[in-house]
Amino acid sequence: MRLIPNGRAEKVLRDAGIRLSQKMPTNAAQRIALFESVYHRPPQIAVRAPGRINLIGEHVDYEEGLVMPAAIDRYIFANAAVIDEPEIRLWSATCTRTPLRLPLADLAPLHGTDSWANYVAGVVAKYRDAGVPVRGFDVAFDATLPLGAGLSSSAALEAATALIVEAATGFTKTPRERALLCQAAEHEYAGVPCGIMDQLAVASGVKGHALMIDCRSLEVTPSPLPEGIAVVVVDSRVKHALADGEYAKRKADCEAAVQSLGVQRLRDASLENVHAARDRLGDRVFRRARHVVSEIGRVRRFAEALQGGDVETVGKLMAKSHTSLRDNYEVSCTELDALVAIANSLGVIGARMMGGGFGGSTVNLVREEEAASVAEAICARYRETYGAEVEAFVVHAVDGAALES
Ligand code: GLA
Repeated sequence: MRLIPNGRAEKVLRDAGIRLSQKMPTNAAQRIALFESVYHRPPQIAVRAPGRINLIGEHVDYEEGLVMPAAIDRYIFANAAVIDEPEIRLWSATCTRTPLRLPLADLAPLHGTDSWANYVAGVVAKYRDAGVPVRGFDVAFDATLPLGAGLSSSAALEAATALIVEAATGFTKTPRERALLCQAAEHEYAGVPCGIMDQLAVASGVKGHALMIDCRSLEVTPSPLPEGIAVVVVDSRVKHALADGEYAKRKADCEAAVQSLGVQRLRDASLENVHAARDRLGDRVFRRARHVVSEIGRVRRFAEALQGGDVETVGKLMAKSHTSLRDNYEVSCTELDALVAIANSLGVIGARMMGGGFGGSTVNLVREEEAASVAEAICARYRETYGAEVEAFVVHAVDGAALES
């Protein structure tokens, strides 16, 4: 099933009007009041699901590589209450309409501006497929997570829905099981053949830590973020139409490399294997494989350098990751390249594009005391040079999606 063109998932959320409320975050009491104003009774369940950044390990999760994301303090919030009717009623903070209604008997895909609800429908359907006796519920969403910024708002929406289903039925899953169900929902209901990084990061975040995730074993090892280093996200506010279908094309190129190299996944290939097969692979597939294999090596070295306080190596590895994503994997764009160049000219520790690419955000490691001024300077320099606005903000690593007490 392919319901939303690849790469457009977060744009769909944005178009659907989940409020871009990071400038005016609501508190828990306001969110309860919002729910009551829509459904005329109090909610029973409150959940928060964070977005994620990725320090390094880009476009390697579906090749069973290593990634190093962290859940961040930007959230999708949901309040919900179980209902007797066999349907889900959904509302989000900017939808002034009456709630959308999804009959449980027919969780058929929605199109156009309502298609953001497919993330919810898909997760509910996947829990049902897994034997969970799903029930109807009312839900109201709010967000402090910028949508369409490559910060995994779709994975956050999926995780929030998963927790509501679990709270409503009493059938609880481990973070790993939850992530796998959400990934399956995204594949089937959103038509995005994503890897496991986003869902696992959103489900398993640990406050103050990045997560070293082995995308083969799905083992998650929290790694403390060193004191004195801040993470600045810069949202380019662009998402190029080119993104549609390009993600699946990259996966197909990797598959071609896997076949040609005779390995299970690119995780199993060495750079020597890839270089030795260069002629056989052809230029494009060679460059794709070179990116994946070299990026996995960078993740290992990055983790060591970060723990050892070797900021010079950290910065170099981020720079190499960006260059490889730009030149070998061809998933960057002029806006992201410009933002990385500006950040480097301001003397950050490291900067690179992040996530699927063709827009979205850059991730920047910055000395803590310089974080606010660097964030401001990046926006100012970009505005002066390109006459366009970007948004830069400091994020902190937080725990994964959970019920709110
Ligand atoms: C998107 C996907 C992830 C991952 C990244 C690139 O965010 O959802 O699974 O592949 O792109 O690293």
